[in-house]
Amino acid sequence: MSSLLLVRNGRRAVSVIGGGRRGTDALSGVHPAARRTIIDLSYSAHFMDFQGSSIPSSMKKLVVNKLSPNFREAVAMQTVAVPTPGDADLLVRNRFVGVNASDINYTSGRYDPSVKPPFDAGFEGIGEVVGLGLSASSRFTVGDMVAYFTSGAFSEYTVVKAKESIPVPAVKPEFLTLLVSGATAYIALKRLGDLKEGETVLVTAAAGGTGQFAVQFAKRAGCHVIGTCSSNEKAGFLKSIGCDRPINYASEDLAKTLKKEYPKGVDVVYESVGGSVLELAVKSLATKGRLIVIGFISGYQSASGFPPFRGDTLPVRLLQKSASVRGFFLPHFFSDYREALGSMMQMFAKGELQCEVDCGDLSEERGL
Ligand SMILES: NC(=O)c1ccc[n+]([C@@H]2O[C@H](COP(=O)([O-])OP(=O)(O)OC[C@H]3O[C@@H](n4cnc5c(N)ncnc54)[C@H](OP(=O)(O)O)[C@@H]3O)[C@@H](O)[C@H]2O)c1
Repeated sequence: MSSLLLVRNGRRAVSVIGGGRRGTDALSGVHPAARRTIIDLSYSAHFMDFQGSSIPSSMKKLVVNKLSPNFREAVAMQTVAVPTPGDADLLVRNRFVGVNASDINYTSGRYDPSVKPPFDAGFEGIGEVVGLGLSASSRFTVGDMVAYFTSGAFSEYTVVKAKESIPVPAVKPEFLTLLVSGATAYIALKRLGDLKEGETVLVTAAAGGTGQFAVQFAKRAGCHVIGTCSSNEKAGFLKSIGCDRPINYASEDLAKTLKKEYPKGVDVVYESVGGSVLELAVKSLATKGRLIVIGFISGYQSASGFPPFRGDTLPVRLLQKSASVRGFFLPHFFSDYREALGSMMQMFAKGELQCEVDCGDLSEERGL
């Protein structure tokens, strides 16, 4: 039997999902049920009837009922019982949730084709702990502020595993931007970018949620950073966060600018747009360049609606597996040549390497 801590909580009821730059309109009009008076239900699962607690018995949430990239078509609002956290869980009253471009990949089942509706929408949130299980109470307590990257965020309350909850110093929407957008840029550039000081990095959709972080992390690594965007206002923002060369592709030709100003190509591309931008990015790579496929937002929606998803393209296949395709041409690696030869000679001398040679012994022409 799980235990629940529902400790006195006189805080003002906050309607779920606040504003911030990326607050969701989809949930406007959601009002939590009236609060009741407060009692302490600590450790007593059999008292867990919410009678008198400040947690309402029911809540609203968005549920994906149909797989579709059209968010409004995919989700519906439901009124359900406020969930009970298990022994190792937290019950979080959401204050802000993040709305990401990736949400439509999620609602359309593109990220995990095995997931079938109905399932809860939204995957990042920040709020306060209002209830928790006994094991979870070894690390958290009611009133703690936490952020999380777990499904079911578009809800007034979400149950989150304590081990997956990130303590935050304040419930600020800025922390939300780090959960997916920031973490994607940080980890992708660190693990796959192999950035070196002085290299050139091209970030597409640079003023977007994750692009803004890629710009800043590449700059911190001592790189020259180029960022694409569609307005002068965004170009100004990119300058303000350290981007060396914002390119407003609405007013200057991206391909021509890259060719003219970066004739040797770019060392790393952090690519979120896909389609013709991806092709241009591949073309613009320098020798030994690296291209990280982050997304393909150009394929999500067009003026004529939601195009069919092309899951069989190379960038999609690579992204779904965090896999890479890398080119190799020996003359580009002569700096590694001496060490490679020396090492192989030694292995051969020690009998650790077999060097099979086809001397033609088995060929029909042998002896002719
Ligand atoms: N791989 C991962 O784990 C991961 C994690 C996070 C995000 N992503 C992906 O990264 C991409 C960006 O996500 P985000 O959250 O940063 O998005 P976002 O904040 O919505 O920014 C996207 C930006 O892309 C630009 N864009 C360029 N061409 C576009 C087009 N045809 N349609 C719409 N936007 C276009 C727009 O900026 P301009 O108008 O200035 O060009 C837009 O503001 C998405 O594909 C997302 O799915 C992937």
